[in-house]
Parts: sequence; structure tokens; C-alpha cells
Amino acid sequence: MKKLIALLLAALMLLACVGCAAKDNTPAPADDAATTPADTTTPADDTKEDAAPADDTKSDNDKLVVGFAQIGQESGWRDAETNDIQWYAARNLDTLELVFADAQQKQENQIKAIRNFIEMGVDVIAFPPVVETGWEAVLTECQEAGIPVILVDRGVDASCEDLYATKIASDFIWEAEQGAQMMADLLGGKGKVVELEGTVGASAANDRKKGFDDYIAANYPDIEIIASQTGDFTRAMGKEVMESFLKTYDDIDGVWCHNDDMALGAIEAIKEAGLKPGEDIKIIGCDGVKGAFEAMVAGEMNGTVECNPCLAEQIFDTAAKLKAGESVEKWIKSNDGVYTADMAADVIDSRAY
Ligand code: AHR
Repeated sequence: MKKLIALLLAALMLLACVGCAAKDNTPAPADDAATTPADTTTPADDTKEDAAPADDTKSDNDKLVVGFAQIGQESGWRDAETNDIQWYAARNLDTLELVFADAQQKQENQIKAIRNFIEMGVDVIAFPPVVETGWEAVLTECQEAGIPVILVDRGVDASCEDLYATKIASDFIWEAEQGAQMMADLLGGKGKVVELEGTVGASAANDRKKGFDDYIAANYPDIEIIASQTGDFTRAMGKEVMESFLKTYDDIDGVWCHNDDMALGAIEAIKEAGLKPGEDIKIIGCDGVKGAFEAMVAGEMNGTVECNPCLAEQIFDTAAKLKAGESVEKWIKSNDGVYTADMAADVIDSRAY
């Protein structure tokens, strides 16, 4: 029975990750694939209890040991990132050891997990900072312990720049400018737009707001941003906030969503209000998740700016370099694309996440 469950789990993970994982690695045996990610995943609150004494972790083997403190599971995009990291580690068990923590959307849990990694004596710590501020103390502790830190998919504020080794992430300002240009094209340079923001204080939300608002203000004086509120990067809150926008304003022409999950929530709200998403109200999202492509093919969404979540190979390669004492670039930038609805049908089958 156990074997059957393990095989089923392995098959599910394979489906979730297909195309995301590194091409030149052969799949891990079913048992390993099913058990390794689960075994190395510990809730942030439990990480302390599960921590091995510093020497145990390193002396057991010569593997590269990476502690990864994930934010949580707020969106399809984040699940894709988690799957990619866990799957990559599971396929490279001979050289890698991943210690994975899920912080359940809380900064305090991410900090606890990082402190736990320090105690374990991992080689490298990687994490996507849920918000930009409040990291000085724990990053200083990492530095004092001699453990290099990789920021993954989000940034921290400038006061911490000397405290981490590198950031592997997209350029959120660029993404927002692409979103703004798509919106302006759809509206013919004139109209009223609402904005669904990401998690309050997250660099992805701060920069996607700044990039969009500044670009519109500088180039399109006849486009007015009439309301802007957080939907916390989730589909449920995206829907809820869009419902309240629709009750307050009856003249919304477009909605800029800081991620696709909120765009999918907004689509539901617009339909329930008796309007046609993608037609009556133009919708631009960010991330490039499969659901956004399906919505575009269905004519219910107008565009998305990609934000690549498949960062595992870069994370582990960079971690290996840091462990070896090599220098790496301060910002390893993802190369993202821009997709309009008329491109969606042609590319949907090749999307990796
Ligand atoms: O930091 C990347 C962003 O975080 C993604 O766009 C979003 O979906 C996630 O919540």
C-alpha cells in the first residue's frame, strides 16, 4: 500500500513539474521522488525540533546542503516554484540535500526557519523574503555564521544589500512597465483603471505598483488609476477586492493585477457582476501561469507578463559556487516574456507551469 501511495505521489509530482525541471537530469526513482521532498519539508514552527546538530549535517556527506524557507502556498506560481525546487533536489540526491521549510505566509516563521538552518550548519540559505523590511538581524546572524544567503524571487530593502550574496529574481519594475504598455494599448491611451496589489510590503507588490503607476503617469495622462488595493497575491482575495471595486465604480475600463491568481479571481467577480471579462473590462496579469493562458484562450483575459518560477537549477548552481568561495553577480536576473491574448493559443501547450 505504501509503495502504491509513493508511486501515485511521484506521478503527481512529475505532472506538476514537467518542463520546469532541468532537462539533462534523469528522473529519480519513484520511491525517492515521492519521499524525499516530503521528508525534507518541515513546517517552519517545527524546523527547530527537527534540526540536526551543526556537525551532523555537514559531516554525514560532502553534499551541498541548502536550507530553503518558502513563503507558503499563496498562488499557483509559488506552488510551481516549490515543485521545481523539490523536484530538482529529488533528482540530484547524490550531490544535494535540501532542507525545506514552509513559513505559511509569515515573516516570523521565515526568520525562525533561517535561524534553524544556521543552527543546522547548512552550506547556503535561500529564501524569498515575504516582505522587504525587517531582515537586518537574521541576515547579520547568517553573515556571522559564515553562511551565504541567496534571495530568491523577491528582494529586501537597500539597508541589507551587504548582508546577502545574490538575488535570483525577475525585474518587477520592467514587468509592470510591460503591463502598463499592454493596458494603454488596449484602452487606446484613455480610461479608468483599478489595481489589485500583491502582499503589502512585498518587493513584488511595491515594484509592480511603482512601475505601473509611474509609467502610466509619465506616458498616458488620460489613463486614471481610480483605485488600488491589496489582494495579497491570492485568487480568493483578488475576487473579493474586485467585487468591492465593482460595487463602488461603474466605469472601470481595466484592471492591472500584480499576479495572475488575482486576475483569475477578478475574472470570476466580473462575470458574477454580469460583465464580460476581457471585453467590458480589460485584464492584465503577471506571472504567466497556465490558468492565465487558459483564460486568454477563452477570451476572458488580455495579457500577462511572465515571471519565471523555475529557478531551481540556478539556485543550486549558484549555491555550489558560493560554497566553493566563488563570486557571483549581485542580481541574477530572469529573462521573462510578454504575452498578449492573441499569442495564447499558440504557446499554451509549451508552457512549463
Ligand atoms: O515574487 C514573485 C511573486 O510572488 C509572484 O508573481 C507571485 O505570484 C508570488 O506571490
